[in-house]
Amino acid sequence: MKIAVVGLGYIGSVSCGCLAHLGHEVVGLDIDPHKVDALAEGRPPVIEQGLAALVATAHQEGRLTATHDVDVALAGSDVALVCVATPSRPDGGADDSQLIAAVEAIGQGLRRAGRDTYTVIVRSTCLPDVHRRLQAILATSSGLSYEQGLGYASNPEFLREGSAVEDFFAPPKIVFGARGKGAEAVCRDLYLGIAAETFFMDPGAAALVKYADNYYHAVKVTFGNEIGLLCQQLGVDPYAVMDVFCKDRKLNISSRYLRPGAPFGGSCLPKDVRALRHVSREMDVPLKMLQGVDASNRYQIERLVARIEAADPVAVGFVGLSFKEGTPDLRESPFLEILRRLVARGRVVRVYDPLLLEMVATPDHDPIAELRPHLAEDLASLAVACDYLIVTQKLGTQMWDGLQIGREHHLLDLTADADLRRFGTYEELYR
Ligand SMILES: NC(=O)c1ccc[n+]([C@@H]2O[C@H](COP(=O)([O-])OP(=O)(O)OC[C@H]3O[C@@H](n4cnc5c(N)ncnc54)[C@H](O)[C@@H]3O)[C@@H](O)[C@H]2O)c1
Repeated sequence: MKIAVVGLGYIGSVSCGCLAHLGHEVVGLDIDPHKVDALAEGRPPVIEQGLAALVATAHQEGRLTATHDVDVALAGSDVALVCVATPSRPDGGADDSQLIAAVEAIGQGLRRAGRDTYTVIVRSTCLPDVHRRLQAILATSSGLSYEQGLGYASNPEFLREGSAVEDFFAPPKIVFGARGKGAEAVCRDLYLGIAAETFFMDPGAAALVKYADNYYHAVKVTFGNEIGLLCQQLGVDPYAVMDVFCKDRKLNISSRYLRPGAPFGGSCLPKDVRALRHVSREMDVPLKMLQGVDASNRYQIERLVARIEAADPVAVGFVGLSFKEGTPDLRESPFLEILRRLVARGRVVRVYDPLLLEMVATPDHDPIAELRPHLAEDLASLAVACDYLIVTQKLGTQMWDGLQIGREHHLLDLTADADLRRFGTYEELYR
């Protein structure tokens, strides 16, 4: 492929050397003459381990050139990889001015050259609305359309400075958000020869994968540091604690607990989170992130109550009330709290939870006395009684088969189980 790399900073320079190494014909473009001169002489404009050799070889073999002229770059390419910077503005927002200028210049260049096919791939980190604006700017400035020859893709970058060349050839994943007739095929050819799981999404979702990654990494660092602070204050070896923590690949270093869903609850998490918050306050250790977890979880509960109230249902049915499937334990179940709030507001509320039905009352004690008046015998009778169903537990497919749940039913699915989409007016919590 003939590729123009726009922006010769860290990402652009590494992309130039590595794409040329893969066999592509690459032309680097920058507004900074020093970077252009360096690359044109076969030297990388940035210092990165292993890059100098790749750039020198590609230069010698004639597969890597550089220019400051957008028309020259476009004439020598069918694809542009935009790698300009998106630094912070003083207000914290991302400054997208370099991106807008670069994409507009590419569009105008395509128009001047009378090109009818071209694909622009944005590697810079930016938010979904910026991608939408860039797509519009590219179409307007080039005069081309996505239904014909124009292609656009977001392709977030997962390189780490210091090991960028190594990461380029062994990325954790490849993610594209492609738009336009031939854009997906162009994306597929770009990294041919690199073995990594590849995902195609819409441009905005691809962009958010990058932000989610970076936020998660920042959260991990902060988590380790705050546990370190806590251990230090409690006279415990934080390195020993985190070493064992990291050995747990079932619950800790795994995909568990990472899907957007219901607030946490139950007999352990809320009380243990509170206990650590309490001890850290007592010792005056400012665990800013960990101390915020409880408040964040409470906000999720408030949000759910507000959402149900806004729908103004005749009767609300809970499919599952305990904090998770497989146990009747109601201690600090967020759903029980939501139920109580709704009852206090005068809402009609019903519950179907098979394990709660097995709870036996003795003559002098009923562990679920508060709930008895609300219990439904089965899912079918819950569906008959309620127009708004909150699904907190999936309960097995056979329970749902043959149920009469029509358009008049609102189904708020906290389990995000696609199988339930066939029922009523289906809503996932975060969609
Ligand atoms: N540095 C990293 O490790 C890293 C990792 C992943 C993602 N990213 C993202 O990649 C993007 C680039 O980051 P970077 O660190 O390589 O930036 P950088 O500041 O090192 O380089 C940006 C380059 O773009 C050039 N430029 C600006 N406007 C231009 C234009 N109109 N035409 C041509 N060139 C232009 C600048 O002169 C500069 O050389 C950012 O969005 C960043 O968030 C960076």
